[in-house]
Amino acid sequence: MDGTNQSVVSEFILMGLTDSWVIQIFLFVFASVFSLASMLGNSLIVLTVASDSHLQSPMYFLLANLSFIDMIDSFIVTPKMISDLFRKHKIISFGGCVSQIFFIHAAGATEMVLLIAMAFDRYIAICKPLHYLTIMNLRVCISIVIISWTIGISHSFLQLAFVIKLPFCGPNKVDSFYCDLPRFIRLACTDTYRLQFLVTANSGFISLGAFFILIISYIVILITVRQHSSGGSSKALSTLSAHISVVILFFGPCIFVYVWPFPTFPVDKYLALFDSIITPFLNPTIYTLRNKEMKMSMKRLWSQLMRSPSMS
Ligand SMILES: *[C@@H]1O[C@H](CO)[C@@H](O)[C@H](O)[C@H]1NC(C)=O
Repeated sequence: MDGTNQSVVSEFILMGLTDSWVIQIFLFVFASVFSLASMLGNSLIVLTVASDSHLQSPMYFLLANLSFIDMIDSFIVTPKMISDLFRKHKIISFGGCVSQIFFIHAAGATEMVLLIAMAFDRYIAICKPLHYLTIMNLRVCISIVIISWTIGISHSFLQLAFVIKLPFCGPNKVDSFYCDLPRFIRLACTDTYRLQFLVTANSGFISLGAFFILIISYIVILITVRQHSSGGSSKALSTLSAHISVVILFFGPCIFVYVWPFPTFPVDKYLALFDSIITPFLNPTIYTLRNKEMKMSMKRLWSQLMRSPSMS
């Protein structure tokens, strides 16, 4: 920036969310509490599912994998945002910026595929209960997990392949608290209009597409539940309502970030805050705390942990 030949930007300046002290203090408390809670909650889920033989079913494997992604999620932008809050100059290196973009898209797309797989899992469990264990066997579960990571990581590489060669020669101010594609591309010193459209359309299309697939599959499940059973339907309904709320709360902000066309009125920044702080916390609370089996299992794990030191 100062001195050297000015043609290459090696770091970016994040503008953050606000200059107001009150809001910054609020954000500090809010973000710290929620990200700590989601790190703890998600690691507890992974630990519980791994340690309890009662929970060795496809649904819990997928849930644990979802929690694992959420755990990664809460490390991508939030710790840097929190540590930057009270800094005057919030600087991020070029590599840091690119890796944020990479991990946001890899984790995001993986999570979307996994959510679709979880909807499929509920569809089989509710609509074809007799075939559940033959269809959702261990091999299928492992393939689902591998496929979702493969799709997530390739999507992310593809997005970066479009932008990694762009020339950056200043300005280098990113008007947000993290790096993501729409704002990153706008800073390149070349005509990026078509590229912006392409990249935004790609992510927007994937989020919208996954969202509609999920909503349609839940509608199909709901219709089947209403037609076939009467007794089990209230339990199925409560499970489904949990899934549907996660889907809406996860995709809403996500779609907004890529489809919102007005950079001068930055609602998307605040919605991104929602996605990076609240969503990782929501999954464990919504999927788990309303699930009796999971709660019992956590209690068992807890009493085991309490007992073991006195025995040795
Ligand atoms: C993810 O799912 C696979 C197979 O379904 C399972 O073996 C693995 O333990 C899960 N990973 C986590 C972190 O729970």
